[in-house]
Amino acid sequence: AEIVIVPDAAAAGILVADEIAALIRRTPTAVLGLATGSTPLPVYEALPSRLADVDVSQVRGFALDEYVGIDPAHPESYRSVIAREVVEPLGLDPARIRVPDGSLEGIEHAGDDYEAAIEAAGGVDLQILGIGTDGHIGFNEPGSSFASQTRVKTLTAQTRQDNARFFDSIDDVPMHCITQGLGTILQARHLVLLAFGEGKAAAVASAVEGPVTASLPGSAIQLHPHVTVVVDEAAASRLA
Ligand code: F6R
Repeated sequence: AEIVIVPDAAAAGILVADEIAALIRRTPTAVLGLATGSTPLPVYEALPSRLADVDVSQVRGFALDEYVGIDPAHPESYRSVIAREVVEPLGLDPARIRVPDGSLEGIEHAGDDYEAAIEAAGGVDLQILGIGTDGHIGFNEPGSSFASQTRVKTLTAQTRQDNARFFDSIDDVPMHCITQGLGTILQARHLVLLAFGEGKAAAVASAVEGPVTASLPGSAIQLHPHVTVVVDEAAASRLA
């Protein structure tokens, strides 16, 4: 992987937003892989100014994951987050931006439907990734198969605790999610993994330099030929 150490998250946001703007200029039909959580927010904040003179009308996007059973209108559903942080500020076509369907009706075919939609769009050109403190990417928790496709998973206690900050209490954090698999993520043409802060340092070091193992899902990036890791000093502090 190419490792880029930046002074802070805002600088990372500008760097990655510039990369995305260049991609869309080159390929107006670009397909973006969209992460949620705190990590990609500086990218989404930097994008509107970078895209001011770029035609985004044909851009497609696929979110990594969604909570299962959450009301889609809940402000912390990833459908709502992607609408609020990405689609609306950038003026993207909402019909071209998909989030896995976490509603209980039809959940048994939601994963296959999502895979088919990504394939029909020609695959993801640039996938933005964050990483969990336990090394998860998407919501592929430790033990996930490197060949996995979009499917329903159970969130670990650690991840529910990490995400409790977005909800009134930890009891409101859903128990299940639907997430792109590691196999899905590895099919994207360029992976851009971002991480900020001391709390991510161990996960970043394991993902980039540790053994390639299902125990650390982020280590799957070592199997991909085109990966950019953008980290601040704190998140880079355990790299050799
Ligand atoms: C979110 C996602 C997760 C997060 C990870 C880090 O779509 O797939 O893998 O990237 O949980 O979360 P933050 O960025 O909130 O630290």
